[in-house]
Amino acid sequence: MPDSLSRSAGTATDSAPAAAIAVTDLRKTYAGTAKAPPKEALKGITLSIPRGSIYGLLGPNGAGKSTFINILAGLVNKTSGKASIWGIDIDEHARSARAAIGIVPQELNLDPFFTPREILDLQAGLYGVPKAERQTDALLEAVGLKDKANAYARTLSGGMRRRLMVAKAMVHAPPVLVLDEPTAGVDVELRQSLWAHVRELNRAGTTIVLTTHYLEEAQELCDTIAIVNHGQVVACESTENLLGRLDSKEMVVTLDADLATVPPAFAAFDAKLETPRRLVVHYKPSETRVADLLGAMAAAGLAVKDLSMVESDLEDVFLQLTRAPAA
Ligand SMILES: Nc1ncnc2c1ncn2[C@@H]1O[C@H](COP(=O)(O)OP(=O)(O)O)[C@@H](O)[C@H]1O
Ligand SMILES: [Mg+2]
Repeated sequence: MPDSLSRSAGTATDSAPAAAIAVTDLRKTYAGTAKAPPKEALKGITLSIPRGSIYGLLGPNGAGKSTFINILAGLVNKTSGKASIWGIDIDEHARSARAAIGIVPQELNLDPFFTPREILDLQAGLYGVPKAERQTDALLEAVGLKDKANAYARTLSGGMRRRLMVAKAMVHAPPVLVLDEPTAGVDVELRQSLWAHVRELNRAGTTIVLTTHYLEEAQELCDTIAIVNHGQVVACESTENLLGRLDSKEMVVTLDADLATVPPAFAAFDAKLETPRRLVVHYKPSETRVADLLGAMAAAGLAVKDLSMVESDLEDVFLQLTRAPAA
């Protein structure tokens, strides 16, 4: 194991690379079969995932996210292109590169007849982590499975299994943790606790990469988002910038008295009366000033109980970008 990996995850040192993961023109074509033609799943992906980030790979099903992850994990052979993990080229130093990354695969693959403790110990053994350095109990505690340490995996709920997979991916304290669709089949409450854990790992220095087709998930968790569609990156920037790209907001006015129709003062705006007491105005911040909206409200003499401005969310950006036809 190279020196940079023997340190605990994420202790950023001078030797730590700026990019946790860097790929250049990564391509993958799955060979065809008698029934299916060859499939070009990745059409030249170039990405640099900054050290210390929580990075989202967002895209619809079939976009190529798992293919990308599985190439990094050494589970799928790329067709062409370059990839390095923690500065280590996956072709030149496959083993070291693999040691720098922990992958939580999309499919749950736990042996039902082992206990969480046994599963973590086996995995640690596979990665050559000496017994004295194993963090089995701390890991189980971190993912909230301390009291299930000796239960058979088959008796764990879906959410517990998912968290056990996260612990399993962390046994060798990799500086980079990748989660492929981590909340598929996980209920809302467990999702929150999983996220809390992921954030904690990130605070402790682990670079997190997660793939998802849930927009809220990426929006809530990731500082940077790459949107992948049909095997290509169609956008890649900070979550904030991505959201800022969309020139659309809405003003929601809650009224104190019923309205029968949209007041004439709002004729120039895209305004709708959603209920007799709820007026919603869509507007483009680049064209409409809030003062104009307030002016219309005053002119209409509305009895306003509450007022809120709603930012556009990632869903809008996502739809805009993925609706574009494949090149
Ligand atoms: N082993 C495989 N053989 C052939 N085609 C595959 C294989 N794995 C994935 N694909 C195809 O490659 C494309 C990308 O799949 P995948 O990487 O799983 O996307 P995602 O994870 O974004 O849903 C899809 O069209 C999928 O059907
Ligand atoms: Mg996938």
